[in-house]
Formats: sequence, C-alpha cells, structure tokens
Amino acid sequence: MSAMQKPVSAAALRAPEYVRAIAPYVGGKPIEEVARELNLDPATIIKLASNENPRGPSPKVLAAIAVAAADVTRYPDGNGFALKAALSSRLGVRPEQIVLGNGSNDVLELVTQAFLTPGDHAVYSQYAFIVYPLATQARGALGIEVPAKDHGHDLDAMREAITPRTRLVFIANPNNPTGTWLAGDAVESFIARVPRDVIIVLDEAYNEFLDPSDQVASTAWISRYPNLIVTHTFSKAHGLAALRIGYGVMDASVADLLNRVRQPFNVNSLAQAAALAALDDVQYVEDSRRLNRNGMRQLQAGLQALSVRSLPSHGNFILVEVEDALTIHQSLLRQGVIVRPVANYGLPAWLRVTVGTPAENERFLAALATARDSQATGDARAH
Ligand SMILES: Cc1ncc(COP(=O)(O)O)c(C=O)c1O
Repeated sequence: MSAMQKPVSAAALRAPEYVRAIAPYVGGKPIEEVARELNLDPATIIKLASNENPRGPSPKVLAAIAVAAADVTRYPDGNGFALKAALSSRLGVRPEQIVLGNGSNDVLELVTQAFLTPGDHAVYSQYAFIVYPLATQARGALGIEVPAKDHGHDLDAMREAITPRTRLVFIANPNNPTGTWLAGDAVESFIARVPRDVIIVLDEAYNEFLDPSDQVASTAWISRYPNLIVTHTFSKAHGLAALRIGYGVMDASVADLLNRVRQPFNVNSLAQAAALAALDDVQYVEDSRRLNRNGMRQLQAGLQALSVRSLPSHGNFILVEVEDALTIHQSLLRQGVIVRPVANYGLPAWLRVTVGTPAENERFLAALATARDSQATGDARAH
C-alpha cells in the first residue's frame, strides 16, 4: 500500500464491486477551498466552474426564501403541492406527472433507481453529462457510451445501440460540457424510433439559455410517448444551485414509480418557496438569457482574439481548447479564476468556462492570456 492510499475496512470491501469501481464525481472547486489552498482572499476569486447564474437569484426569490425561513421547524410538503400546481399550469401537464427532486440530479438518480437492475443497459453519448454513467454504474447496470458526432449526440448511432437489454436512454439537450444542441424535430423523431418499453430521459437543464425560437414544448410529447421523461432545473438560469431543486415531467404511471423510491421529504421548504417565486419572475430569466448571450459573444470574441479554439455553445458555458489544460488551470487558479478541467470527460485538452458577468469574462480572458504567456516562457511560478 502506498503512503497515499487509505486503508479499506473489511466492511467497505463487502460493497458491490460496481460501487467500489465508481470514480468519484469531481465538482467545480468552491471559492473558499481555493482561497485556503492558495492563500488568496476569497473576495478576489471568481468562480466560472459550475454553470451557475452570475446574477444569483432574483430579489423576489430572495424575499420568498426569507419568508419561508421563518418556518423551518416543520417538515416540507413532501408532495410539493403548490409548486407542482404552478408547474402544472405553466407546462400544461397534470400535477401527478411531475416529480420534484433535490436538484434535477436527484430525478436522474430516481430514474436509474426505479428502472435499472444489475446487467441492464443504459445508453448515452460520449461527452454527455457525467452523472449518467455514474448513476448507471451505481445500479450495477452497464453504460453503453455511443461515440459522439462533432462533440454532440449521434442520434442514429444511439438508436442503433438500443437492444432488448436497454432500459434507459439519456439525452442532454443542450449537452454539458460540450454545449451542443439538437433541434426539437430531430429529438422528437429519435423518440418516435425508440421502443416504447425503453425510458428516454431528455435532460433540459440548460433549456432557458436557448433562444426562445429554439425552445420546444417537449413535455407535450409525453402524451404520445409515455416512455419520455423531461427534466428541468432551477440551478442554472434561475440561480438556485445551492438550494437543490429540479423536477421531471413524465407519464403519471412513471411518476408514481419514482415517487415510491424517492425520500418522502427530498425537497426542502426553502427550495420549494424559492422555485415557486422563480417561476413567476419570467423577466428575470429573460434578462439572464440576454446577459448570457452577450457574455457568450464577449468570450467568443476574446478567445478568437487570443487564437484559442472554442466550441459553439448553446448553454451558459463554453469549452475552450488549451494545449496543457492542467497547467493553464493551475495558473488560472493562482490568479483567482476557477474554471473546470474536463479530462474526466475524455477531453484532457479542454477547459469548461461558465459565462460570467462582463467583468468576470474580461478577467478570465486576461488571466488566460497571462497563463498562456507564462506557459510559453516556461515560467512555472507565474500566474
Ligand atoms: C446536463 C445537466 N443535467 C443536470 C444537471 C444537474 O443539475 P441540478 O442537480 O443542480 O439540477 C446538470 C448540472 O450541472 C447538468 O449539467
């Protein structure tokens, strides 16, 4: 055993091999952690690593949270009556078709819990959101990773990967971390070609950042395709990542199954109150979309000026190709700029950068220029 390895208890060794083999999820580094590790003032650090809304939540949402905070003694409404009612009228589905989650990540987990048993297959694309393979493996199921086309989902190849052993298919649209996006008609025609006893999860975590003309009412497809689950989150455009709230829309019979395996109080009351207020503040989401679009243009222009390649993105983040991503990442950290390496996605030469405020975007671009300069001059200490 090397000095770095921790002893493994006999009990831990009895966990299923497929659980022990899971590579732990590595998230964006928290500001406080970077400040501690690099001896920086947290107030000077910017985080562009987890696709959060740089504006935070709307003031109306903060007011709703303050009101809800007065009653944290009580358990939350385990059925999320008020929020489901609001979502139901917004989306034109019945409340029984909605499952609330502790983040949409929770809904993704619930789907695997309800539908996958060891040996089953789940199909997803290369470079798709990493929770799909993680959640699949946690059930002892087999992830079938379909090679990407132009960094995005190859729907024809994904259809071909479906066999009688396939229980689940995941599609992220737009996809994280690549930012690729599929038009609604392409997604719908794929869904039509999937056998009706295979669940399709259409993960639309970044839907609000699309131009309104590109947004499709995919939840309306569920009446025709009862094997479709559409997931949304309040973590991104609504700026509520820390509260952990998202939801899935599906056939009522599928929702019933997910509700059986979920924790009775999986969504806390502050999150429910905040989401309800966030849904109402349509203008805030629209303004966030505009800020994101302008920030994306700013980043793209700045990267182009630096001759740095990036992928066109439909989300609130952009993949940036740098030669030595680890060194550049370290240099950015030392300059107080946190971005996300994506080597764990099989993209070792890229960094994912969340679109920030204009000032944050500017700061990232300047830090990147410094990082590249110091790399070129071989100055290891530099920023
Ligand atoms: C594609 C995609 N789906 C789902 C999620 C989960 O988000 P949350 O659990 O915060 O709703 C993320 C978060 O980064 C994501 O990128």
